[in-house]
Amino acid sequence: KRCFLASTVDEAVEAVRKIMVERIFGNSGRRIVVEDCLEGEEASYLVITDGKKFIPLATSQDHKRVFDGDKGPNTGGMGAYSPAPILSQELEEEVKRKIVFPIIDGMNKKGMPFKGVLYVGLMITKDGPKVLEFNVRFGDPEAQAILRRMNSSLVDVCMSAASGNLIDSLEWISDTSICVVLASKGYPGKYERGKVITGIEEAEKLDSIVVFHACTALSNGKLVTNGGRVLDVTALGRDIVEARERVYEAINRIHFDGMHYRKDIGFKALKSNL
Ligand code: GLY
Repeated sequence: KRCFLASTVDEAVEAVRKIMVERIFGNSGRRIVVEDCLEGEEASYLVITDGKKFIPLATSQDHKRVFDGDKGPNTGGMGAYSPAPILSQELEEEVKRKIVFPIIDGMNKKGMPFKGVLYVGLMITKDGPKVLEFNVRFGDPEAQAILRRMNSSLVDVCMSAASGNLIDSLEWISDTSICVVLASKGYPGKYERGKVITGIEEAEKLDSIVVFHACTALSNGKLVTNGGRVLDVTALGRDIVEARERVYEAINRIHFDGMHYRKDIGFKALKSNL
């Protein structure tokens, strides 16, 4: 952990003392960055750019903490859904105008145009959208939720970005998609590998279910776990309620020793669905 979240000035001073005086992170503590503590709801906004123009992908929201109710340590992401109702059309326009366009234009003007997927990690605060991070890649598990809704060719849009002649529009289905990550016992800490996985075929017999393999392997002809985040179970539904019902019914058919997952993926969208 190289980051402290301080809610008071005293906590911030104590964190600086630990890093710069006690040197709990060794020499990395010679320089620190102090940022505003942002409060709100997170959302992921991904665009594909050819270096000049950009085309947004569908909005999504990740669930970074390991346990229900956003408790426990951070993970790479325990589940996602798309669209993310928190990103209203108005907010999306603000994100494009104030964040996405200036960064793509800025990189271009500096002679370093960026072509590819730009991932903007946002905190939607009461003062509007703020940037938490940029990644130059898809999000995982956001991509699984987003791409289930894409009705255009991913290859075509990537090729058009790479060739510097980005296509004008993408088609999306109106359904809500959801992705729930099935993780190994102990993840995001230490975990074991090699647990036999069953039930994927039975799960995929259900309506709209697709199971993506994240960290699996074949051992003596059997499918086994081979990492922390093992499988990504995705479903589509008319709304978040139906998508959730479908995905958790499918998960009930899948098993490996120590398997754990969040039961509340999409809970923030559920609130706005009530
Ligand atoms: N799910 C978060 C990320 O891909 O960075």
